[in-house]
Amino acid sequence: MKIIKAKDYKDMSRKAANIISAQVIMKPESVLGLATGSTPIGTYAQLVEWYQKGDLDFSGVTTVNLDEYKGLTRDNDQSYYYFMNDHLFSKVNIDKSRTFLPDGTEADSDKACADYNRVIASVGGVDLQLLGLGHNGHIGFNEPNDIFEAETHCVNLTESTVKANQRFFASMDDVPKQAYTMGIKTIMQAKKILVVVSGEDKAAIVKEAFFGPVTPKVQASILQFHKDVIVVADEAALSLI
Ligand code: GLP
Repeated sequence: MKIIKAKDYKDMSRKAANIISAQVIMKPESVLGLATGSTPIGTYAQLVEWYQKGDLDFSGVTTVNLDEYKGLTRDNDQSYYYFMNDHLFSKVNIDKSRTFLPDGTEADSDKACADYNRVIASVGGVDLQLLGLGHNGHIGFNEPNDIFEAETHCVNLTESTVKANQRFFASMDDVPKQAYTMGIKTIMQAKKILVVVSGEDKAAIVKEAFFGPVTPKVQASILQFHKDVIVVADEAALSLI
């Protein structure tokens, strides 16, 4: 595991975007595993800026996202589909037909997960997987558990996650209670993994996940066993290391 220290959020975003750019330049047909959350927003903004300058070409790139809320339609501004279009896909020359997320509108969880596993298999493996880190160590929506779930599965969101999301919705009933997420085995099969972390509020979980014991209680700790992980974190997130 390589840890790259960034000065602040902006520097973290630039360094992460540099790594993704290098991947796309070295292999224009790359399969990128992408993440949502507030942390990668600056990374996507930087990639868009470099695309606009003519330094990047996404025409050969395929993407598979980590997760999606169950029950949200694509035009819902809280869906991860909407997020990805808003922050990246609509702003670069990527072929939209090669951008994949789990289908949140599929009510049959088994079908949604099996379909997404097939999508992941069909793209031939992820070259570079981008990850954020949840405060409880979750990656994607792999929440603290007694086991590491292997493949795509339906997750019951923890009460704290549902509560935290309440502010984005008109009423509690509208807040999604479940999500579809890629599993840990799939994430671990990516050739290269890039984790972005920012802020003092993540310092404790950075220490636990990357310097503590490997346990499904802290799902990100499994990344210690991956052969090519780069963590780009700002000084605040690394303040306990
Ligand atoms: C959500 C996403 C994760 C993300 C996490 C952290 O739960 N499903 O993929 O990494 O939030 O979000 P943030 O970057 O906003 O701290």
